[in-house]
Amino acid sequence: KSNEALNVMISGAPASGKGTQCQLITAKYGLVHIAAGDLLRAEIATASPIGNRAKQYMEKGLLVPDEIVVEMVKERLLKPDSQQHGWLLDGYPRSLSQATALNSFSFRPHIFLLLDVSEHVLVDRVVGRRLDPLTGNIYHLKYSPPETQEIAARLTQRFDDSEEKVKLRLKTHHQNVDSVLSIYKDITVKINGNLSKDQVFAQIDTALTTLIHQRNPASGSL
Ligand code: AP5
Repeated sequence: KSNEALNVMISGAPASGKGTQCQLITAKYGLVHIAAGDLLRAEIATASPIGNRAKQYMEKGLLVPDEIVVEMVKERLLKPDSQQHGWLLDGYPRSLSQATALNSFSFRPHIFLLLDVSEHVLVDRVVGRRLDPLTGNIYHLKYSPPETQEIAARLTQRFDDSEEKVKLRLKTHHQNVDSVLSIYKDITVKINGNLSKDQVFAQIDTALTTLIHQRNPASGSL
């Protein structure tokens, strides 16, 4: 029996649906969503020297250096809410050195969710993605269109969401993914991410419910 908060990692190629699924996971399980990409974009928005430096890498689809990312994620994980409610780590670790750093701070996931999506689907998802700056909601012009004209009018596009940029991001992903997967293979649950948003969530929901039940058979809940 374990009363320790649930710690989840979610991984997958660019635009595989990590952010979309994280919104559904946090709504149901109350975990604290920590997305490396979001932390970096927040830093860019402040126009800090670190943000400006990070942007140079992100624009090329390259990994931002560890000395920036590792510290940022560590700080967020150490905040009391992550410790109390459990965390949902999205887009980190992306390399062996990032995984090693996390391990050395004793942050260990209970489950590693891997979103598996075909390459041609990824490009289509990136190009149509739009974000609502007001709510943080993720839309897609074809698959998840905005509910109202008012929302449609304020949607923005990410600076690295062109077809050309996503190819660079995919290349970086392929160069690094195997080393990360090998570390977490014992706790990996592979999710078919080609299906609809709800069908993908149903698989994740089953995996998390099963895990919670295994860790705490008496309660059957968080
Ligand atoms: P990051 O922000 O993490 O981007 P990414 O990994 O490329 O992933 P995305 O945010 O693009 O996609 P997602 O999987 O969240 O998909 P979404 O749910 O939005 O990283 C950006 C950059 O930051 C990196 O390139 C790197 O430079 C840097 N960085 C980040 N982490 C780092 C780290 N640890 N170390 C170093 N550098 C780092 O979905 C995509 C679209 O598809 C949306 O429009 C959505 O509506 C739609 N969609 C989602 N699910 C479905 C579905 N099931 N069916 C149909 N459409 C769907």
